[in-house]
Amino acid sequence: MKKRLIIAIDGPAGSGKSSTAKKLAGLLGYNYIDTGAMYRAFCLFLLKNNLLDEISHGISLFLERDLKLIFEKGNIRVFLDGEDISDLIRTPEVSGLTSRISTVGEVREVMVEMQRKLGASGGVVLDGRDIGTVVFPSADFKFYMTASPEERVRRRILELQEKGMEFDPEETRRSVIERDIRDSSRDIAPMKKADDAIEIDTTGLTLDEQVNKMYDIIAGN
Ligand code: DC
Repeated sequence: MKKRLIIAIDGPAGSGKSSTAKKLAGLLGYNYIDTGAMYRAFCLFLLKNNLLDEISHGISLFLERDLKLIFEKGNIRVFLDGEDISDLIRTPEVSGLTSRISTVGEVREVMVEMQRKLGASGGVVLDGRDIGTVVFPSADFKFYMTASPEERVRRRILELQEKGMEFDPEETRRSVIERDIRDSSRDIAPMKKADDAIEIDTTGLTLDEQVNKMYDIIAGN
């Protein structure tokens, strides 16, 4: 495969997007752009600077900051002005708030522009909610990942456990479902499958099975 492709992966929380995207990017020797992490970093910035009620002002300040997503050895680390915020952006509080902040049109415009710049030269796997529909509607491959709500809640709980974070199982279940509803029903760029995206239902599939399925499609096997 000579051409450096743009690969878009969308889907709800817990559908397996990010672990699949990371592994696929590693296999292809591509960069991985976690667009959710960008929204999360912005949200954490607002939270830390008491700017949740001043989003426009927050955007202009954020744009002066140095946001870096480093994809190395199959893992993504997120830095803001040199501070490693990778774990801080994954707390349940930031997850819930990010889903709210990301409904704001002005926020989305800025993020989409940053994401297009990062992916423009190809050789990238991007994951998010609107990659195939808005950010790169002409991506070379578009995937839409799904899994049953029960499976997605189970995965989210496992993820929190692995990170040693405190959580309440019932609250986690509610927050995954609430986030789905908000992300898919917002007015601007709602989460949805692009008409030409390939749907991958990951319920009952292992990570390797998901990745191989997508790799084979891309490689034309
Ligand atoms: O993929 P994630 O769970 O890290 O994303 C966190 C939130 O960011 C998600 O609830 C909705 C928002 N988001 C978005 O609106 N568009 C994207 N492309 C990626 C994430």
